[in-house]
Amino acid sequence: MASLKDKRIVLLGGTSGLGFATAQAAGAEGAQLVVASGRQARVDRAVSLLPAGTTGHVCDFTDEAQIKDLFGRIGAFDHLVYTAGDALLLGDFTSTSIADAKRAYDVRVWGAMTAAKYGAPLIRTGGSIVLTTGIASQRPFKGWVVPSSLLGAMEGMARALAVELAPIRVNIVSPGVVRTEMWGSMPEDAREALFADVGSKLLTGKVGEASEIAETYLYLMKQTYSTGQMVTVDGGGVLV
Ligand SMILES: NC(=O)c1ccc[n+]([C@@H]2O[C@H](COP(=O)([O-])OP(=O)(O)OC[C@H]3O[C@@H](n4cnc5c(N)ncnc54)[C@H](OP(=O)(O)O)[C@@H]3O)[C@@H](O)[C@H]2O)c1
Repeated sequence: MASLKDKRIVLLGGTSGLGFATAQAAGAEGAQLVVASGRQARVDRAVSLLPAGTTGHVCDFTDEAQIKDLFGRIGAFDHLVYTAGDALLLGDFTSTSIADAKRAYDVRVWGAMTAAKYGAPLIRTGGSIVLTTGIASQRPFKGWVVPSSLLGAMEGMARALAVELAPIRVNIVSPGVVRTEMWGSMPEDAREALFADVGSKLLTGKVGEASEIAETYLYLMKQTYSTGQMVTVDGGGVLV
């Protein structure tokens, strides 16, 4: 597999959770890192914790003009990793606001598509894009109509971008439940109870850690022959 040493990797959402863990793992292999997300404090914290030379940018991925401007400032690079996502819109479907449902696509779906549009022309030969979905597209729970549908959209987008942008490789990671800041809005005891309950039902007996999923992003950047593929990393979640 190709090495990530001295490769320039742009991680949109790389200041937290899966993206930050991927940045840490890629940085440990000698990659040059560029992280971006919406909040200055998170960008500053990530840059302070990642290897020297990491650059950070504040950008709202719901805003096409900001994404275009971001890539204008970043310039040429090797791999794009998109892990940005805001709060999940869960709940009873028949009382769901369709306006809210449309907004739920903004960061995860339209942000990823916009990043691919403006990022792809800057990707060097041999480079790739790695997007993010989740197993709820295949294994929805009650109350998950909006997230499950947008995750399905991401999977179709990854396959179509692989065809469209070739020879840039485009792949997508599908995690199950992973212990990250994404669950931070839940009270700690409820969150730990959820992780324990979900984990006890999984084939691995536990929910995932961000570092375990990061390995998959690294694999998809480093290998040279896979494109348009989804890799599921879920502790067996789709099987139980
Ligand atoms: N964790 C899980 O269990 C799990 C499972 C399956 C799939 N996923 C998916 O994996 C992705 C990453 O999840 P995670 O757990 O790493 O989440 P996370 O820790 O909450 O990180 C999300 C990142 O997105 C950024 N972000 C959110 N809204 C933004 C906006 N409008 N503009 C720019 N940046 C924005 C956040 O930064 P700022 O706050 O600075 O904006 C943060 O860096 C999400 O799409 C999630 O749905 C997660």
